[in-house]
Amino acid sequence: MTIQRTFSIVKPDAVKRNLIGAIYNRIEKAGFKIVAAKMLHLTEEQAQGFYAEHQEKPFFGELVAFMTSGPVMVQVLEGEQAVERYRELMGKTNPEDAACGTIRADYALSLRHNSIHGADSPESAAREIAYFFAEDELCARD
Ligand code: TYD
Ligand code: MG
Repeated sequence: MTIQRTFSIVKPDAVKRNLIGAIYNRIEKAGFKIVAAKMLHLTEEQAQGFYAEHQEKPFFGELVAFMTSGPVMVQVLEGEQAVERYRELMGKTNPEDAACGTIRADYALSLRHNSIHGADSPESAAREIAYFFAEDELCARD
C-alpha cells in the first residue's frame, strides 16, 4: 500500500457551471480523501507561476487568461497511488481523447476548458501542494 497525495484544481469552466459537487462526488466515489480544499480566484501571477513549465508554449497566454477568468477550487487528495489513479479518473487532456466515464469526457468543454487539473508526478504534486497550501492546512484523515 502506497498512500500518496496529489493536487487537483476544479477549473473556472466547471465552477461556473456548478459542477464542484459533481466532481467532488466522482473524486470521493473513486476512493480519494480530500485532506484540504479552498476556493480561490487566481491572480495572473499565481496562474503564471503555477503553469511555469508551459511558459514557452503557444497556448500559455490563453491558458493563464482562462485560469484567471473566475474562481477555482484547489484541493489535496490522498489515496493509494493517488497521482496516477487521479490522472486516470480525470482522463486525457483533450476531452475528445478522454476515455468514457472520465471526468473530462463527461464535463470538459474543450482542450482548454477541460474542467480539472491533476498533478502529473509525485514531484509535481509536492510542488503544487506547497504552492497553495501550508503544511498545517492539510488534515489527517483515517
Ligand atoms: P498539460 O499539462 O499538457 O495537460 P494536463 O492538464 O492534462 O496535465 O497542459 C496544461 C493545460 O493547458 C491543459 O489542461 C489545457 C491547456 N492546454 C491548452 O490550452 N492547449 C494545448 O494545446 C494544450 C496541450 C494544453
Ligand atoms: Mg500538466
